[in-house]
Amino acid sequence: MRFIKLSIFFFLSNILILPNLMAIGEKAYLVQKKHLKYFTHKNLSPKTVDADFVRVLLSANDIEHLSKNIHFDDHQCGGFMAVDEEASLEQLKREIKTAKLTETAENEFSTLEPRFPTQVQQLFSQLQQEDYINYVRQLSQFNDRSARTQNGVQASEWIKEKLESFKLEFHRENMDVFFVETPRYNQKSIVVKLSGSKSNLPAVVLGGHMDTLSSNKPGADDDASGSSTLFEIIHKLLKTNTQLQRDTYFIFYAAEEVGLVGSKAVVEYFSNNNISVRAVMQLDMTGYAVERSKGKIFFVTDYTNNALTLYTKKLAKTYLGKTDNQILDLRCNYACSDHARWTNKGFPAVFPFESLFQDYNPDIHTSRDTLSTVSAEHAFQFVKLAGAFVIELGEPNK
Ligand code: BES
Ligand code: ZN
Repeated sequence: MRFIKLSIFFFLSNILILPNLMAIGEKAYLVQKKHLKYFTHKNLSPKTVDADFVRVLLSANDIEHLSKNIHFDDHQCGGFMAVDEEASLEQLKREIKTAKLTETAENEFSTLEPRFPTQVQQLFSQLQQEDYINYVRQLSQFNDRSARTQNGVQASEWIKEKLESFKLEFHRENMDVFFVETPRYNQKSIVVKLSGSKSNLPAVVLGGHMDTLSSNKPGADDDASGSSTLFEIIHKLLKTNTQLQRDTYFIFYAAEEVGLVGSKAVVEYFSNNNISVRAVMQLDMTGYAVERSKGKIFFVTDYTNNALTLYTKKLAKTYLGKTDNQILDLRCNYACSDHARWTNKGFPAVFPFESLFQDYNPDIHTSRDTLSTVSAEHAFQFVKLAGAFVIELGEPNK
């Protein structure tokens, strides 16, 4: 049994804890003391913060090194949590202690029921497992998709070109594809906007991360599986010429693995441009299934919105025929993916996941996270769930 250990490291503002001597490219981080063991090769001169945490200066290389070691050696998921620069030390520490952040307030999803079966079935009839798997294959053919490498930049450009080819193929005027820049990294997030007929209504957002760690990281399950879901949904929405009332956004986040850096900038883009958001779905690892996970869908219940999660479970029952015992919950116990960026800014997010926490793909973040770790049948359930989510929440024109 793998224990969920909270090994969190925090990223603080220069202003808060700006040390006097800072080498170029280094930033101040809060790191759990136990993780200093990965830095015997380097004198970090840690400053004690309290019994468990130290403050150190880390470069992008150091962060990658830390992230890899936490996963490989400690066999723990998670490693660290990047926290908003503006957060104060005390706020950060409160978050570590509670490490939950589930939004449980009632909202519009508490009473919402599925309403558009015809349009959902129409989309389902076009979704193709083989097309989906082809995207996973193509994404995992890059040597890596790291935010720090030229491969990662090329992967991001390839994704954007592919999306632009859809726009040309279907002559869609209501489709925009654009980059959102990532601070400190060359890899940019990609946003696809399908404008609805009532753009004043709050929008629907679906996302997955494009990046991996560096050097021989196919990242098929983590997270070609989730980002390919977006490709397949976008492609078939265009093909069926589905007209929704609401704007829908599909986001391929850059630089997730280095601390949710891309999604932080994307959420800021939405805030800065006053784009109101109805609901966000995160798709990160949907492809790996041990025997007891098959046919089931799991929902992350921390850093997500409870009512939206219950609503999405309803969609899984209605449109995927899931029974109560095929729908299970899990917790990451830390801000494990991009959904946390939305939740932290008050946007309702849901995060369907491949398995229980003890059963997730043991090969993520290694060279073994290849297409062969991905079950097409398992992953395809999430393609359908995402499809039902877009149609139901995006609201087709009458
Ligand atoms: N896909 C993982 C998160 C994950 C792994 C969720 C296993 C549930 C089970 C994600 O890409 C990742 O690796 N996240 C980082 C944290 C992030 C803040 C850098 C991690 O878990 O180390
Ligand atoms: Zn991931």
